Amino acid sequence: MNKNDTLEQCISQLADADLGQLIMAVAEACCELSALVQQGELAGILGAAGSSNVQGEDQKKLDIIANDVFLEKLPPCGQLLAMASEEMEDIYPVNKPSPEAKYLITFDPLDGSSNIDVNGAVGTIFSVLTHAGGDVSSESFLQPGSQQICAGYCLYSSATMLILTTGDGAHGFTLDTSSGSFVLSHPHMQLPKTTTDYSINAAYQRHWFAPIKQYIDECVAGKDGVRGENFNMRWAGAMVGDVHRIMCKGGLFLYPSNKKLASEGKQGKLRLLYEANPMSFIVEQAGGAATTGEQRIMELQPDGLHQRVPVIMGSEVEVQRVTSYHDNSAV
Ligand code: AHG
Ligand code: MN
Ligand code: MN
Repeated sequence: MNKNDTLEQCISQLADADLGQLIMAVAEACCELSALVQQGELAGILGAAGSSNVQGEDQKKLDIIANDVFLEKLPPCGQLLAMASEEMEDIYPVNKPSPEAKYLITFDPLDGSSNIDVNGAVGTIFSVLTHAGGDVSSESFLQPGSQQICAGYCLYSSATMLILTTGDGAHGFTLDTSSGSFVLSHPHMQLPKTTTDYSINAAYQRHWFAPIKQYIDECVAGKDGVRGENFNMRWAGAMVGDVHRIMCKGGLFLYPSNKKLASEGKQGKLRLLYEANPMSFIVEQAGGAATTGEQRIMELQPDGLHQRVPVIMGSEVEVQRVTSYHDNSAV
């Protein structure tokens, strides 16, 4: 696998050719979505759909279009048993189990929906699991993130990039719009162990629990506080955008639980199966870490398709620091 190889060339070296075909189908869907995103209002994709998803969130037109692109592009590849998406309450069965049809995929078709109408960065996130056998049901998807055999995200921004792991490092491919191929531009991405960048929506500050409040207060205090150095903050409003920046230059991404979410019976905002787990797999493969504050995300036993979890991920030393604040906290 060499820099400037196409995704197809890199995938041809995978021992599992069926997985390779599935990845190529995902890449094709991302490519189609990228073209739509680039067209924006000209493709009639902006605005609200006038409906809500199973989680009670208002859907944008592009949430539904993106979901439909994946439902159209993935099943014909023959490797999939079933799909589960942020935009669908139940699983979407595709094939009966067979030697080649053995995979399950979970996906967030369009991450960062609030950015669509303002021409901000958006993304797609996906995770591939193997089916243990027997009939497929939603329970088949309830596997810890450590069981993922592949995960990726696609960032639709100034360039379109697909970041992929099959457990052998995290590799970044840039879409060459002239040929329609993803090209290996960022092999073996590694994020620095230390950082002075963090990423959190500070509008929820009054709802934070003590460990997060302590961590962010210390960052904000900068040189004048216990950290003795200045920090910088960024918030893209799309996890894919924020985590991609961290994959490129280090940083800490936090979408923690808070008192308001807890009062609504939610453990976090981000969903375990198609946001937290795949992004954790990629970040860990790049030398980073990912936790709820109390537990490594990829060791959580899921209890529902749309389960939400607190997410703290990025440069390892900062993840350890936030974890230690949870260890010492009564809250
Ligand atoms: P989605 O658009 O798939 O629902 O995900 C949006 C998520 C995530 O991408 C982002 O980090 C976060 O929601 C932003 O939430 P706030 O609006 O609460 O900041
Ligand atoms: Mn999302
Ligand atoms: Mn989404």
